[in-house]
Amino acid sequence: MSDKPESAPVPPVRLADYRPADYLIDAVRLDISLDPIATRVVSRLTLRPNPAGTAGAPLVLDGGDLRPLRALLDNEALDLAEVATPESLTIANPPARPFTLEVETLLDPSANTRLEGLYRSGSAFCTQCEAEGFRRITYYLDRPDVMSVFTVRLEADKAEAPVLLSNGNPVEQGDLPNDRHFAVWHDPFPKPSYLFALVGGDLGAIEDEYETMSGRKVKLAIHTQKGKEHRAHYAMESLIHAMRWDEFVYGREYDLDVFNIVAVPDFNMGAMENKGLNIFNDKYILAIQETATDGDYAGIEAVVAHEYFHNWTGNRITCRDWFQLCLKEGLTVYRDQEFSADQRSRAVGRIGNVRSLRAGQFPEDAGPLAHNVRPETYHEINNFYTATVYEKGAEIIRMLRALIGHEAYHAGMALYFQRFDGKAATVEDFISCFAESSGRDLAQFFLWYRQAGTPRLKARGTYDAKTKTFALDLSQETPPTPGQLEKKPLVMPIRLGLIGQDGKEIPLVPADPADAGEAQAGVFELAGKERRIVFRNIPSRPAPSLLRRFSTPAILDLDLSEDDLLLLMAHDTDPFNRWQAAQSFATRLMIRSTSLIRSSELPDFDPAFAEALGAAIEAGEADPAFAAQMATLPSESDIARDIGSDVDPDAIFLARRALREGIGRALGARLLAAYERLTSDAPFSPDASSAGRRALRNACLDLYAAGAPEDGAEIAMHQFQLGANMTDQAAALSTLCAHATRQRESALDSFFRSHAEEPLIVDKWFSLQAMIPEPETLARVKRLTHHHAFSLTNPNRARALISAFANGNPTGFNAADGAGYRFIAETALNLDAVNPQVAARLLAAFRSWRNLEAGRRQLAREALESVAAHAKLSPDLRDIVARALA
Ligand code: TRP
Ligand code: ZN
Repeated sequence: MSDKPESAPVPPVRLADYRPADYLIDAVRLDISLDPIATRVVSRLTLRPNPAGTAGAPLVLDGGDLRPLRALLDNEALDLAEVATPESLTIANPPARPFTLEVETLLDPSANTRLEGLYRSGSAFCTQCEAEGFRRITYYLDRPDVMSVFTVRLEADKAEAPVLLSNGNPVEQGDLPNDRHFAVWHDPFPKPSYLFALVGGDLGAIEDEYETMSGRKVKLAIHTQKGKEHRAHYAMESLIHAMRWDEFVYGREYDLDVFNIVAVPDFNMGAMENKGLNIFNDKYILAIQETATDGDYAGIEAVVAHEYFHNWTGNRITCRDWFQLCLKEGLTVYRDQEFSADQRSRAVGRIGNVRSLRAGQFPEDAGPLAHNVRPETYHEINNFYTATVYEKGAEIIRMLRALIGHEAYHAGMALYFQRFDGKAATVEDFISCFAESSGRDLAQFFLWYRQAGTPRLKARGTYDAKTKTFALDLSQETPPTPGQLEKKPLVMPIRLGLIGQDGKEIPLVPADPADAGEAQAGVFELAGKERRIVFRNIPSRPAPSLLRRFSTPAILDLDLSEDDLLLLMAHDTDPFNRWQAAQSFATRLMIRSTSLIRSSELPDFDPAFAEALGAAIEAGEADPAFAAQMATLPSESDIARDIGSDVDPDAIFLARRALREGIGRALGARLLAAYERLTSDAPFSPDASSAGRRALRNACLDLYAAGAPEDGAEIAMHQFQLGANMTDQAAALSTLCAHATRQRESALDSFFRSHAEEPLIVDKWFSLQAMIPEPETLARVKRLTHHHAFSLTNPNRARALISAFANGNPTGFNAADGAGYRFIAETALNLDAVNPQVAARLLAAFRSWRNLEAGRRQLAREALESVAAHAKLSPDLRDIVARALA
C-alpha cells in the first residue's frame, strides 16, 4: 500500500525531464546475512560526482519502505534521523571527489507479500528488483543508467540455505560458526541495480556444460524446489538451443563462467533476466509429460530463450531510463519469436504471435489504457510492462527488418552491439544504427514508437478486364487515443501477392517501373496517407493477399468477397493468410449472427465455410499444427474487438456457439475420422510435430463436441480417463467444461484428486472452472476462493482463478447485472493490500469497458468508480483506475 498521503495528486515522471544522475556508483559491495524475518544488509558504495551531472548537487538515494540501522560517509557515522527516511537517504553536501557510503538496513523477507525486493518463496529467499525493487533492499541510485560492479557476500544458516547464489561468478565460499556459511559472488560487468539478484535455499539442481563459439566452457545449472529438478530437463535443452542460436544468428556469445536459473513458485511475472542468475516463475521451467501441456513446453522454450537473450539485449546494453523499456523488451521478444520460429513451425509461430498481439495489444491500443510503445509519462512504471511495449515493440523490429532487409538489419545490430556495449541506451541510439547501416532516413519510421493506437489500413482493388490491370488503392488512418488526437501517417511494409481464380500466384508486374524493386521483394511501402499501385498482365480478377505474414500491425479493411476468402483459404501461398482468410470468414459469419441474435432472429449458417474448413483440416494432416490453427475459430473477445462498440457479449457467445455447432454437425463424421487417424500410441515426445498432431486431434474433438455434445463428451471422458499426457487430459477436460455435460463434475473432481499435490496442475483446475461459460460460474468462482487450495498471495493461483474469470470468461465477467464487474473490482481491492502489481494487472481487465453496450458500460463504470473511491490504494492500482476512468 502507499506509504504517502493520498490526497495530493502525484505528478507523473516525464521523459522530457530526463537528466543524468548527479553521482555515479563505480562499485557496490553487499554483505547480506539472510534470516527469515531479520535479514541484515550492509551496502558499501563507491561514489563519485558524475561529470555529466550538476556539481555540488545533494545526493539523494532511493529507498522503499526501508529500516536503516546505521549510515557512514567515508567511515564517519551520519545521524540517521537527519539523513534517512524509509523512502530516501539524502546527503546534502557530498564531497566533490570519490567517497564511500556504508549503510545497514534490516529487512523482513517473510512479511514481503508484494514479491518485490527480497522475499521468500516456499522456504527459499529470492529477489525481484526490476523495475524499482532494489530500493526495497538498500538505499541506492535505483535507475538503470547508474551501472556498477557488484560484489556480493551472502551468509545464511547452512541447513536452511545450502545454496547461495548471486550475479556473476562464484569467488569463494566457506563455513562459519553457529551452523552458518557464506558465499562470495563477483560480477565483472557493470550493471544497473534492477539486474541484481540473490537466491538462498535448500534447492535441487540439474547441471550441464556449454562450450561457447570461442571455446570457453560455461557451467549451466537450473535450480528448483527439491524433488522437482528432473522436470527441468526441457528447460535446460531450451537454454542450450538458445545459446547456440544467439551465437549463430546474432554472433552473441555468453560472457560469464556460470549461468544459473532458479525456478520459484511465487513470482509476479514470467521470469527475470538478472545477470548470470535468471529467476523464473516455475511454470516456465518445470515440465514432464504428466504435468505439462504442449503449450507449457512451448512457453518454457520461449521464456528461457527470452531471458537468455536479454544478456545482450538488456544487460550488456541496458536502458537509459524506464521510458526506453521497449529497447530491451520489444527487441528481446522479437528475438525470442524468431528463435521459436526456427525451432518449430514458422507459420504456426507467426499465427501464435498475431493471435496474442490481437488478443492483448489491440484492445489495449483501442481503449483508455492506450500508450506509445515508448511512453512519455508514467505514474507507475510497473504498469508499463504491457503488450504494447513487449509485443507491438517486437512488431516494430519486425517491420524495420522488412523495410531495410536482412543484411542492413544484421549490420545495424552488429553496430548497436559494438557501439553501445556496456552502456545505457535510448531508442534513438538503437534506431540510429539502422539508419546508418541502411542509409535510410528513419525519422518517419520512428513514429511507431511515438504514436499510440492501431492504424487502420484500407485496401480496395479494382480490376480492369480491358487493360488487364489491377489497381490497389491503399490508405491509412490511426484513430485518436487518450491525449493524442492528431495522428500522422506511419511507414508500413505491406507484403502482398495476388492469387488468380485458378488458385495460382500471379507474378507482380507493376505498371510503374519505379515500383519494380518492391514488386521483386513482394513488399510495398505505404508511407503517405494513400498510395495506388497498378499491376499489369492480370488475366482475370485476382484475390489480393495483403499483409502476408502480418507484415504491419494494423487492422486491415479489405472488401474480399466470400469466394475470394474461400480461394485464399485453399490456395494462398502464404500460410498466414490462408489462416487469416478462414478467420476473416468466420468473423464475418459471427458478426452477422450477432446482429441477427440481437434482433431476436436466428443465427446464420454457411455450409460453404464448413466445407472449406473440413477440407483445410483434412489437407492439413500433413502439417497438423497449422491445420489446428485453421480449426480454431476466433474467440469471443476477437469478435467483440472487431465489432468495436455497443458490444453485447451474450449475443457474441451465442453466435460463436451456433457457428461451432453448425460446423461440428456438418463435419461430424469427418472430424471423428480425423480424430481417429491422429490417434497414436507412440511414446510421448514434446517436439513440435508430435505437439501439432495432438493439437489438431484435440481441435477436431472440440469441434465435434460442439455439434454432438453427448457423444463428444463420451469421447472426451474416455480421453480424459486415459490420461496419457497432460495435453490430452487438459484438452479433454476443457471440452467437457464447455458443455453442461453430466461427466463434467466427476471429471473435475477426479482431476483435482489426482493432482492435488501439483500446484501447476491445480492452477489449471481453477482456470478451467473459471472459464465455464454459464451463469452459475461466478458463484462457483466465489465458492472456489474459499477452497483450501486457493490463495491470493500466490500470483499464479490468484491469476488461475480470478484473472482467468476476468479475461477468459467474457459472458461471466460481463454478466448483464454487473456482478462480474463488482467481483473483479472487489478482488482487485483485496489483492491490492497483498500485491499491488498483480492487483493492477487484474484491474486492467476493464480496459475495453467503454466499448460495451450502454447498460454494461454503466455497470462497469460504477465498479471502477467504487475502486477509485477508496482512500488507500497502491500507486499501481490508483494509476490503472485513474486512466481507465479518465
Ligand atoms: N524483465 C522481465 C522480462 O523478461 C519482466 C519482469 C519480470 C518484470 N519480473 C518483473 C517486470 C517484475 C516488472 C516487475 O520480460
Ligand atoms: Zn523481457
